[in-house]
Amino acid sequence: MSFVKYEPMGDIAYLTIDRPSALNALNAQVLSDLSDALDGIDLNTVRCVIVRGAGEKSFVAGADIAQMKDLNAAEGESFGKKGNDVMLKLEKLPIPTIAAVGGYALGGGCELAMACDIRICSDTAVFGQPEVGLGITPGFGGTQRLARLVGAGMAKQMIYTARNIKAEEACRIGLVNAVYPLEELYAAAEKMARQIAANAPIAVRASKKAINEGLQVDIDSAVAIEEGCFGSCFGTADQREGMTAFLEKRKHEPFTNC
Ligand code: CAA
Repeated sequence: MSFVKYEPMGDIAYLTIDRPSALNALNAQVLSDLSDALDGIDLNTVRCVIVRGAGEKSFVAGADIAQMKDLNAAEGESFGKKGNDVMLKLEKLPIPTIAAVGGYALGGGCELAMACDIRICSDTAVFGQPEVGLGITPGFGGTQRLARLVGAGMAKQMIYTARNIKAEEACRIGLVNAVYPLEELYAAAEKMARQIAANAPIAVRASKKAINEGLQVDIDSAVAIEEGCFGSCFGTADQREGMTAFLEKRKHEPFTNC
């Protein structure tokens, strides 16, 4: 019995955090299950993963407060590392990931969404880093990824005030890319995932690597990373077919991932 469901659907797949009785809160077991589920993704077939929460109310309502309440400092640090290791594994997954946020994305839930490449949400979604109101800091990457996504000033305001924000504000500050009625959210996520999956997989993966790795280094090193990724696409069957099809004014054959 796993708290994370992996549902492949051809070249896209869902990862669903499935603990609705606690609004999908992340306890140690959920984190382990998520780690295992990430390891189990068939990267030869799946070209984009959609991450979501079970039920209509919550994406993920944070790390499990009941499980954290009596931790000492060393245990707290260790729990943070467990969460961060999973978030890094998700962030570094070679294929793109879309967080489809239908409801609460608080604390560790907001952090889970931020470890994905792209975030879209329902009009019912609520985002926030409420940790300082519980006497702790964000602990699964929130202090780092929120500042990188929305800027240090807005991240500090959200984290220091612990104020939750609704979908429209999350979209305005760049935390999510688009807002949909809840009943349209997963169809929209699947449509985007299929658009991504239809493109040359080697080029999509190389683009993800260039963006993620380039953001961590200075611009000279970053463009060198891009050059390597760009070069790695040449000579692939998909590059030859994509460019030949353009020059022959026809639609390219489906890309083959080689
Ligand atoms: N941890 C543990 N259990 C949680 C939880 C969490 N983060 N969030 C919700 N639950 C549980 C509730 O305890 C409740 O369980 P019971 O039915 O057994 O009482 C169940 O889920 C339903 O929750 P509510 O009754 O509270 O539902 P609501 O609709 O009244 O409120 C909510 C929804 C506003 C999201 C509220 O549940 C809430 O504020 N949750 C906590 C949000 C939060 O503070 N998250 C940050 C956690 S700290 C963190 O994540 C640290 C980090 O960075 C790693």
